[in-house]
Amino acid sequence: MMGTMTEDAGTVPPWNAMTEEQTGRWTELLDGVAGLLPAGAACVRIDGAPHAAVVADRLADRLRSTGRRCTHLTGDVPAGRTARTVTLADGSGADRPPDGWDAVIRLRTERGGGHDAEHGADIVIDLHDPVWPVIRHVTRRLAGRSKWYIAESRAFFGPRAATWDTKFGDDMPAYAAAVAETATPAGATVVDVGCGTGRALPALRTAVGPAGHVIGVDITPQMLSVAADSGRARDVVLMLADARRLPFTDGAVDAVFAAGLVPHLPDPAAGLAGLARITRPGGRLALFHPTGRAALAARHNRVLAPDDPLAEARLGPLLAEAGWSLDGYDDAPHRFLALATRSRSA
Ligand SMILES: C[S@@+](CC[C@H](N)C(=O)[O-])C[C@H]1O[C@@H](n2cnc3c(N)ncnc32)[C@H](O)[C@@H]1O
Repeated sequence: MMGTMTEDAGTVPPWNAMTEEQTGRWTELLDGVAGLLPAGAACVRIDGAPHAAVVADRLADRLRSTGRRCTHLTGDVPAGRTARTVTLADGSGADRPPDGWDAVIRLRTERGGGHDAEHGADIVIDLHDPVWPVIRHVTRRLAGRSKWYIAESRAFFGPRAATWDTKFGDDMPAYAAAVAETATPAGATVVDVGCGTGRALPALRTAVGPAGHVIGVDITPQMLSVAADSGRARDVVLMLADARRLPFTDGAVDAVFAAGLVPHLPDPAAGLAGLARITRPGGRLALFHPTGRAALAARHNRVLAPDDPLAEARLGPLLAEAGWSLDGYDDAPHRFLALATRSRSA
């Protein structure tokens, strides 16, 4: 067991009270955050009761251990940046430095104020489980700065893989219905990108028939292991790969199925372009989720973000720019399904 997957299990334990795996997770997270911060002098605020101070302490120690100068303020905020020093302030009450914060880090905790409080944060760290912190959001301005994404995606999905099917197992018929609607032809080569535990794989396998090929791609090894053990990957090739750098030549596949993937990509526009690259002109894309956007947002106790890449007004242009043409959109309470065709001219 990696994280305990408990909800707000209390205080962050000291290093010597955590397992090797848990200290490794903390260290990996702190390195990910450190890599995201601007180089040189920077003023950084960490918000989110009750853990902001301890996270600031740990980040300060980690920055110092890698040779960066760092001050963790417990009092007044400086009048300006201190040369080559990262200044960390904890608590949203900290006065804003004259030039503003270079980064605001928000901790997602039970007492943290919900998703509204995350508005404007540059980095969001989920700390519901104090021994298993995970970066869940990085603003585009900082996102390209380090290799945080793969480690954090695996840290989030890895511990969830074993119970994914018991939690969401009833959705299988919805996957079969979505695959039927995508009308993937017999003999096609189809890739399920972000296949998880393989809930779409049997339906895709049936759709393409014996002459077709199904490939399931995921970035999280534990998800692929569950898919393999479940029997759903029979006659399917499973691949550990990143949707942003798919190991296929241009136009190699006839169709892409992606359930629950796009919201997890740090740059959805680039991700959709990557899916377009591997799909032949005229090929098909299905973006699916077994819950509609509004129902999913309500389940996670948040409101729909106006800039949600899956909103119809936003998705159409995003797809068009990436080389797709949106030709079907259904955002019903019980499912989300957007269908698109690979443009011939792109
Ligand atoms: C919400 S889950 C959905 C899983 C599965 N499609 C389903 O519907 O049950 C998202 C999946 O995408 C995977 N994932 C996230 N980012 C990825 C990436 N860049 N490349 C490949 N897989 C990714 C995760 O590991 C996870 O298995």
